[in-house]
Amino acid sequence: MRKILSCMLMMFALTLLTGTAQESLRIVVQADKPGAEIQPTMWGVFFEDINFAADGGVYAELVKNRSFEFEFPLSGWRQLSRQNGTGRIVPGFYYPYNPGNPHHVSIFLDPAVESFGITNEGFRGMGIRKDAQYNFSVKARLHESSDIKMKVELLSASGQIIGTAVISGFTADWTNHKVSFAASDTELKALLRITLEGKGAIDLDMISLFPADTWKERENGLRKDLVQMIADLKPGFLRFPGGCIVEGRTLENRYQWKTTVGPVEDRKLIMNRWNLEIRNRQTPDYFQSFGLGFYEYFLLAEDIGAEPLPIVNCGMSCQYNAAEVVPLEELDSYIQDALDLIEFANGETSTRWGGLRAEMGHPEKFNLKYLGVGNEQWDEQYIERYREFEKVLKDKHPEIKIISGSGPSAAGRMFEYGWTELRKLSPDLIDEHYYMPPEWFLQNATRYDNYDRNGIKVFAGEYAAHGKEDSNPESRNSWWSALCEAAFMTGLERNADVVHMASYAPLLAHVDAWQWRPDLIWFDNLNVIGSPNYYVQKIFSNYNGTHIVPALSEGKALTGQDGIYASASLDRNKGKLYVKIVNSNEKPVPVQLDLGRLPYTGTAVQQILKSQNKEDFNSVSKGEIIKPVTTPVKMNGRRVDATMEQLSVNLIIIDFKTR
Ligand code: AHR
Repeated sequence: MRKILSCMLMMFALTLLTGTAQESLRIVVQADKPGAEIQPTMWGVFFEDINFAADGGVYAELVKNRSFEFEFPLSGWRQLSRQNGTGRIVPGFYYPYNPGNPHHVSIFLDPAVESFGITNEGFRGMGIRKDAQYNFSVKARLHESSDIKMKVELLSASGQIIGTAVISGFTADWTNHKVSFAASDTELKALLRITLEGKGAIDLDMISLFPADTWKERENGLRKDLVQMIADLKPGFLRFPGGCIVEGRTLENRYQWKTTVGPVEDRKLIMNRWNLEIRNRQTPDYFQSFGLGFYEYFLLAEDIGAEPLPIVNCGMSCQYNAAEVVPLEELDSYIQDALDLIEFANGETSTRWGGLRAEMGHPEKFNLKYLGVGNEQWDEQYIERYREFEKVLKDKHPEIKIISGSGPSAAGRMFEYGWTELRKLSPDLIDEHYYMPPEWFLQNATRYDNYDRNGIKVFAGEYAAHGKEDSNPESRNSWWSALCEAAFMTGLERNADVVHMASYAPLLAHVDAWQWRPDLIWFDNLNVIGSPNYYVQKIFSNYNGTHIVPALSEGKALTGQDGIYASASLDRNKGKLYVKIVNSNEKPVPVQLDLGRLPYTGTAVQQILKSQNKEDFNSVSKGEIIKPVTTPVKMNGRRVDATMEQLSVNLIIIDFKTR
């Protein structure tokens, strides 16, 4: 027995010994030798209407195909079942022709029953909250000798009425009618039922239902919870409207900003180019209503304090699709569109487009500073067109920074050709895109170390680690993908003198209507979650700093030695030193930070983002299991000791006095 006991004691002592024997990794953080400035635009957001990001997502309209402009005018709508009435529903065409909104619908009530109507299915249902207020509106016109009143109801998935209102007083002229009502229950997939009672027939258009509680309580507003998630990132810029959506599948289907401003009912709806793009995820009911158009975009950027960064079509449709090209001699109208967009954002109210901005409610300028020309174009066709844009834009608007593209890949012939040709021109930034396996991100933490410090600046405009997934699409936003992006982002931060902007892509995805994954934020009709990748972005973006600080191990930047990646920055205005450390090992690593001299207050905290398994992910149904946790860290003079847990992303925030 004594033998066993002494043996156990020896083993315990040995464990203790080996435990304390693990030497700390010493990182010298040269806070007293800050380097280049970090741009306030460093970490931004890429918004594209993909995965129901706008219609069915951020744009809070609950009625799908409210203006009967889908290719099949009644898609999203159904006539009421027989027990609720009978009649006829006929799509109608405006006379005189209304180019922005040519269709409406006529509903004829069966004289024997005097009750008939339609339901709308919403965007994979309608998300309704108990006690919340809903604003219904409709444009209507009675036919001759008709007398009709309208019952508006919200039905739960099981058919219970959870909200109701009545509208009467329709006339023979087109008039707008509104009613507001509260919901009596919460429902993820509600239906809207419109029952018409009386005699005769009625024409209807712009049948709309919004929650009253939109972002900033605006009419024609945005979904508050989704905007809040974007705002919480405190993005430096907001890129819009994409993405391939800028290009269109064909030129006719390209994004044209002028059709997205002015009265909402006159904005010409088009097919969303993502509707049939992905073979096994086709979404034929995906259109762009442009309820969230360029005015709402500029407002949103202003609201969340992000620099607006619009991308305009450069006279080319998607080169993966129709690959249509506008002849150079016909490019003027495309260039004029770009000039007019600048006028819409920054022009005096006496100008045509500045005047429209004022009419829409914003006489103040939006202070646009950046403009992207083309999205993901490549080869001579792009360079030739980009050159024409640059000539005019630099001449007429030298104050605007121009961003050009470098194609769809991170390296290779098209990428090299793009950079070589663009160096002969004068873009302010070049947009690089990389959707690569997680390990690529680890291996490329040094990607920008050798870029020309005095050359054209980089906009890492679309990137995401594309790894494995199980049957759940959200699983593609695995913890491992997020960690690898974080490791790579330390490289972006270390090179903030070269990289002036970066954004993960895409931003949003509806769990029932996605085409592309991974995505930063997932949502359904009522709930929203940040992926682990979202929380990585948040750490970098919320704690950006004003200057780069060298963080060295044995005199070198930490770019993966022993699985550790690090960067540091200083916020001179806030009096904060930020050290970001990524541990890609499946074991903890103790770290000793030796800090350069600054008037430290002695307060420091550590934010830890981690998960046990590389495959872990957050999901709308199960919630956010991966979220940053903050703990205090002990400072000993200019030394900080902390543990980087296995598979973790860490931010150490150290306070110092600014004066
Ligand atoms: O982010 C999704 C798509 O990826 C973008 O629309 C396009 O630019 C890229 O190919």
